[in-house]
Amino acid sequence: MNKTILAAIAFLLLMAGATYLAVGGAGGMGGEGDWVNKLAISGAVALFVITTVVVVKFVKQMQNDTASGKLADENWDGIGEYKNEAPFGYSVIYFGLVVWAIWYMLAGYPLGSYSQIGEYNKEVTSHDKKFEAKYAEKVKDPEYLKEMGESAFNSNCAACHGLQADGMDGKASDLHERISAESVKYVINNGGNYMKTSFPGGMPPMLLQDPAQIDAVSNYVANGFKADDAAGKAAFAAGTCNTCHGENGEGMPMVAPKLNAMDADMVASVLKDGKKGAIGAMPAFNNLTDIQIKAIGAYVSSLSQK
Ligand code: HEC
Ligand code: HEC
Repeated sequence: MNKTILAAIAFLLLMAGATYLAVGGAGGMGGEGDWVNKLAISGAVALFVITTVVVVKFVKQMQNDTASGKLADENWDGIGEYKNEAPFGYSVIYFGLVVWAIWYMLAGYPLGSYSQIGEYNKEVTSHDKKFEAKYAEKVKDPEYLKEMGESAFNSNCAACHGLQADGMDGKASDLHERISAESVKYVINNGGNYMKTSFPGGMPPMLLQDPAQIDAVSNYVANGFKADDAAGKAAFAAGTCNTCHGENGEGMPMVAPKLNAMDADMVASVLKDGKKGAIGAMPAFNNLTDIQIKAIGAYVSSLSQK
């Protein structure tokens, strides 16, 4: 007998024995006379026998078979191709699947039809509308707006910026100061085009290249545009920073952000677009409503105003 068949029989006996020990026989779980176990065992034996016979048949066929049929004219380095027709069953299944796929897309589960995600999004949108309507009047009171901003900040932003908005040891920006000298340096060297919503033009890199001037302007901006800082003021003008950011960093709508304090415009843009800089990357927040963005803007800008 050939080795494959011997191995198959050994495997069969092993599995049948293991099954018998596990579920049948005197020592098994079911105990003597439990016909359900006998049925299960005979089912298992039948499965093993059928599987073994089929596997052995095909393994032998693979060992001994020689292909037959008409060869195609081309061959690839001696490897030929038979011109056998596709088996009828395959063709039926193939074309059946094509028909089924078309049915599935157009009628069975059409694109844009009901989905749980769609239902969730609809509910969120309708809730947001209600929210906007409910608070539209109340947020006209600046104090109320700021408080709403603080609570939205605590649930959305505190994880990175800290409950005190102090940036948690440099993991994110300290929102009590407009910007650190290191971050200013980073923007001068790399430029920036993250706050696209509010300042679509972006800021070109390398407007200043002399390290002394870069240092001077970075300290000038980070320290809040001190009037007696002549070197800083001169460098700010030399870099043409004032043409976009204004003489004292007060910013210009649609052109460049305010640099002497946070303002709602800049915060809104950071929330909508996300931001990358010297500290790291901040993700965009697409889940916030307009009122929430305004509220967070009011709260964050109140932090950096001294
Ligand atoms: C062409 C207009 C333009 C000029 C000139 C310009 N900026 Fe900007 N600046 C921008 C814009 C736009 C942004 C917003 C960048 C963004 O979208 O990421 C910006 C952002 C900044 C920021 C804030 C970055 C942050 O992380 O919040 C600082 C600081 C800054 N600029 C400093 C300077 C200095 C210093 C100069 C002069 C060397 C200068 N800018 C020149 C347009 C300008
Ligand atoms: C996953 C962490 C993370 C979360 C959450 C996060 N931020 Fe940030 N945020 C950062 C990082 C990091 C920076 C610094 C980017 C850089 O290097 O300029 C930053 C920068 C900022 C800036 C810009 C400061 C500047 O000087 O340019 C503002 C404003 C800001 N975040 C506000 C918020 C608000 C408001 C929320 C909540 C809605 C929030 N962030 C949530 C990580 C985060």
